[in-house]
Amino acid sequence: MLDIKDKFLSEKELVTEMLDKSKFLGEKSINNNASEIIQLCRKNKSDRTMLDAFLNEYGLDNQEGVALMCLAESVLRIPDKKTRDLIISEKLSAGSWIDHLNRADSIFVNASTWGLLLAGKVVNTPSEWSDDPYNFLSGLISKSGEMPIRNAVLAAMQILSQEFVIGKDFRDIEKLSNLENESYSFDMLGEAARTMRQADNYFNAYMNAIDEVGKLNLIKNLNNGVSIKISALHPRYEMRKFKDLESELIPRLIELVHYAHSKDVEITIDAEEQDRLTLSLNIIEKLALDKVIKNWTGFGIALQAYGKRSINVIHWINKILDKREKMHLRLVKGAYWDYEIKHAQVFGYEDYPVYSKKSLTDISFLLCAKEILKNEKIYAKFATHNAHTISSVHQLGQGKDYEFQRLYGMGELLYQSAEKVLNLEKKPSVYAPIGSYKDLLPYLVRRLLENGANSSFINREKSISAHKKNKINAESIYVNRDEKEKVGQKVYSIANNEEIGTAIFDDPTNVKSALENFASEKWSKYSVQERSQILIKISDDIEKDPSELIFYLLNEAGKTIQNAIDEIREAIDFLRYYSRQIIEIHGKKSLQGPTGEINKISYSPKGNYLCISPWNFPVAILIGQISAALACGNNVVVKPSENTSILGYLIVKKFHENGVPIETLQLILGDGMYGDVLTKVNTIHGVAFTGSLPTAKKIQTNLIQHHKEIVPLIAETGGINAMIVDSSALLEQVTDDVVRSAFDSAGQRCSALRVLCIQEEIYDELIEMIKGNMEIQEIGDPNNFSTDIGPIINKHALQKLNDYIKGCKDQGMEVHNCNNSLKETHMSPTIIEIDNISAIQEEQFGPILHVMKYKFDDMNSVINQINESGYGLTMGIHTRIESRADFIGEKSNVGNIYINRDMVGAVVGSQPFGGIGLSGSGFKAGGPNYLLQFLNEKVISKNSVAFGGNTELLNLQEDL
Ligand code: FDA
Repeated sequence: MLDIKDKFLSEKELVTEMLDKSKFLGEKSINNNASEIIQLCRKNKSDRTMLDAFLNEYGLDNQEGVALMCLAESVLRIPDKKTRDLIISEKLSAGSWIDHLNRADSIFVNASTWGLLLAGKVVNTPSEWSDDPYNFLSGLISKSGEMPIRNAVLAAMQILSQEFVIGKDFRDIEKLSNLENESYSFDMLGEAARTMRQADNYFNAYMNAIDEVGKLNLIKNLNNGVSIKISALHPRYEMRKFKDLESELIPRLIELVHYAHSKDVEITIDAEEQDRLTLSLNIIEKLALDKVIKNWTGFGIALQAYGKRSINVIHWINKILDKREKMHLRLVKGAYWDYEIKHAQVFGYEDYPVYSKKSLTDISFLLCAKEILKNEKIYAKFATHNAHTISSVHQLGQGKDYEFQRLYGMGELLYQSAEKVLNLEKKPSVYAPIGSYKDLLPYLVRRLLENGANSSFINREKSISAHKKNKINAESIYVNRDEKEKVGQKVYSIANNEEIGTAIFDDPTNVKSALENFASEKWSKYSVQERSQILIKISDDIEKDPSELIFYLLNEAGKTIQNAIDEIREAIDFLRYYSRQIIEIHGKKSLQGPTGEINKISYSPKGNYLCISPWNFPVAILIGQISAALACGNNVVVKPSENTSILGYLIVKKFHENGVPIETLQLILGDGMYGDVLTKVNTIHGVAFTGSLPTAKKIQTNLIQHHKEIVPLIAETGGINAMIVDSSALLEQVTDDVVRSAFDSAGQRCSALRVLCIQEEIYDELIEMIKGNMEIQEIGDPNNFSTDIGPIINKHALQKLNDYIKGCKDQGMEVHNCNNSLKETHMSPTIIEIDNISAIQEEQFGPILHVMKYKFDDMNSVINQINESGYGLTMGIHTRIESRADFIGEKSNVGNIYINRDMVGAVVGSQPFGGIGLSGSGFKAGGPNYLLQFLNEKVISKNSVAFGGNTELLNLQEDL
C-alpha cells in the first residue's frame, strides 16, 4: 500500500527526478504536432460544439462568465419563482454583456449574448434595486407581464445544460445519433451521498445503469461501460469508518461489479479526493482480486496524475496485476485541484498532496503514461483535452494499444484535428454523464472551473493511548504555596470512566493570601523579542509531540480525535500569531504633530492578568488567553475550568519548562468559587474570561466592588446562533455544514448553530437530509477513531439539556432525535421545531438544533428576531444570491458571519473570533486588535525646539 510520507513530498525534491525522466519531451515532433492540432482547431472553429464555443467566450476570467456560471449552476434547482427571479436579476445586472456581442464567432453565443444584454438592460436599475429589491422586482415582473426574462434565461440555461449531459435517463441515450460509432462510459450524475437513503438510491441507479447499458450493448453489439463514484454509495466514505465500510459498502460494490460482470458491462471506479486514495485502493484491491471477477478484463480504475503519489499507485497496480487478469486504467489529471489546495491549507497539512504547478501536473501525467504503457496487462485510457498532452502520449505510445477519452460535449473538434494530424487509429471514447438538471450542478461547476483555469492519525493513535499508563497528578502552581496541600480528587475519563489522574484544589483562603499583594517585574524586564521567542519555543514543543495533550483532550474533555487535533493546531496558531504581532506593535510609533514637536506612542504591560478559561476548548482558549497576556509582558494567574484541571496543569508546566518563570505564570486549580475569590484579589489589573454570561456578569460586579481602579474585563460569552438558508442554497452542502455546526463536539461550542431558519419551499427536503445525516453520526467513546460525537461534559450539564428537551415536548413542540441506545454520558443530536426565535430563552450548550420555517417575504422579520435575542456571536447564511447574503450580513448584529460554509472552527488570523451584545465584550481573539487590551498606552510629546532649535524648519527655509 502507499506510504503516507509520499503524500506530502516536497515539490523541490520531486522536480529534479521528474525533469530527468521527462527528457523525451524534447522530441521536436511533439510540439510541432501539438501546434498543428491547435491551428487546425482554429481554422475549423465553426465546427466546435456549442459548449466549447461558449467556454471560449465566457470564461472565469470575466465577470460575465462568473455570473453565467453561477446562474447556470443554481437557477434550474431553485424551486420557488421569487428566489429564481432574484438570482437572475442579480447576475444579469452585474455584467457588461455588450462587450461580448459579435466578438464570439458562434451564432449560439451571440444569440445568448443578445438575450442577456436585453435582459440586463431591463433589470439594470441599481438604486431602486438596492432600496427594496423585492418590491422592485415584483414591480418589474408585473410590468413585463409573464416575466419573459426569467423564461428566456431558464430556456438558455436548459440548452446549455443539455450540452453537458447526455440525457435525463437511458431512454434519452437510445436517441443518440452516433451511438454506434463511439464507445461510452456512462456516469450517473450526483453528489456524494449524505444519507443512507441517498446511497441506496445511487446503488439502485448504478444497478439500473448496468442493466440498461448491458441491454444496449447486446442489441447493438457495443462495448459501453459505467463509471462508479464510490462516495455516492456510502455517506461515510472515510478512512476512520473503515469498519463500517467493510460491512456496508464493500458488499454493495461487490454486488455491483458481479452484476456488471454477468452483463459484461465494463466498470471504471472514478478517482476522488486525495484523502481517500489509500482507502479507495484498499477497497479496489478487494474488488480486483475478488474470485468472481479476477479473470474478467472489464474492471478498471481512474488515476489522477496531479497527485504526488500517482507513480506509486501505478507500481501498486502492477503488483495487483501479478495476481489477476488485465485491467484498464483511465489516466486523468484530476478534477479537484482547487479543493485539494484549500483543504490542505484549512487542515494545516505539512504540504499539498497534489502538485502546485500546472506544468508539473502535465509532466506527471506523461510520466504516468510512460509507466502505464510499460505494462501490457494495463489497457490505458488517456483522458485529456490538451493538444500537447495528446501529442506527447501519441509519441510515447507508438506501437502500443491504448485509447484517448474525452468528456461528452467537449473536445470533439480537438480530437477530429488530432486524428488528422496524428493519424490516430481509434476514435476517443466518451465519458457521458446522465441525470436530471438538479444533479447537474456539481458536475457543471467542475467542468467550468477546470476550463478557467490522514492515515497518519492511525499511527498517532498508538502514541496517544500510550499516555493511559501515566496518570497525571494535577495541582496548583504559585509562589508561596503551602506544600502540605496534597489531598487530591481522583479524575476519571469522561470518555470511558477509567482513572486518568488526580486534581488538588487548595484551600481558597490560602490561595487568596498567597496572591494578595503579589508583585514581580521579572517578565516585564525580558525584551519583547525574548518573550516572543519563548512563546514560539512553546508552540514548537507542542507541535513536536502533542500526544499527551491529545490524550487528555479525549479523556478529560471528551473531544473526538479530529477535534483534539484541530484544537492543538489552534493553540499553536495563537502562540505564533501573538508572538509575531507583539513585535509589530512594539515597533517605533511616531505620531503626527506640528513641526518642532516629536510625538511618540509606546506600550507597556498592564501588570497582572487573571485568565479564566472554559472546559470546551481547554487547550486553545487557555493558551490563547495566556499567550496574549504574556506576549504583552504581563504576569498571569490562570484558572482553568474544574472539568479540565489536568489539561490546565499540563499546559502551564509546558510554559514553565520552556522558559516562562513560575512567578510570571501561576496556576490555580478549582471550581467557580475559586474564580470568585481570584477576581477579588487586590493585585489584578485585568481579566480575560470565556464562559457563560451569568458568570461574566458576576466577575464584572466583583471587579467594580473590590477594586479601586477600573479593571478591564475581556469577556467571551455564548450565543443563540442562527443560520438562514434560502431556496437557492445547495442542500447537500447545507446538510454538511448544519450537521457540523450544530452537532460536532456534541454542540458544546459557543459558536455552535442553535437555530436553523429555512425558507418554506425547501424545508421538508432539507430537514429530511439533515435527519438522514444525523442518523449516521456515530456517538460514543472519542478514543475510537470512528466516533463523530463524544460525551456531554458532566452529568449535571446532561440533565439540564434533557430537562430542556422534556420541557419542549411538554409544551407540544415537535422533537426529533435518532439514537436512543446511548451510554448515560452521551446525548443524541436533537431537532426541535419552533415558530419564532423568541421561543429560545437561553443558550442550550449541547447537540440541540432548533429549526424554523420562514416565508420568502419574511426575511426582515427573521433578521429582527435574531437581533432581538440580544446575542451576537456567530451566524450562517446559505444562499447563492450574493446581494442577499450581503443584505443579511449588514442587517444582523453579529460578530462572526459565515456565508456558504459551516460556522464553527474560526482560524486564528483569518477569522478573528468574538461576539457583541450579550455574546461578549472586547476585541476579537486571534485578530489584529486583541493584544491592545493587555497593554497600557503612553504618549510622549517632546518640543524639540527647546533642546536646541528646529533644524527641520530651518532646512526647509533654505530649500525655499
Ligand atoms: P489541462 O491540460 O487544461 O489540465 C488541467 C488540469 O491541471 C486540472 O485538472 C488541474 O488538476 C491541473 N491544474 C490546474 N492548475 C494547476 C496547478 N497550479 N498546479 C497543479 N495542477 C494544476 N477527474 C477526476 O478527478 N476523477 C475522475 O474519475 C475523472 N474522470 C474523467 C474521465 C474523462 C474521460 C475525462 C476527460 C476527464 C475525467 N476527469 C476526472 C476530469 C479530469 O481530471 C479533467 O478533465 C482534467 O483535469 C482535464 O485535463 P486536461 O488534460 O484536459 O486539461
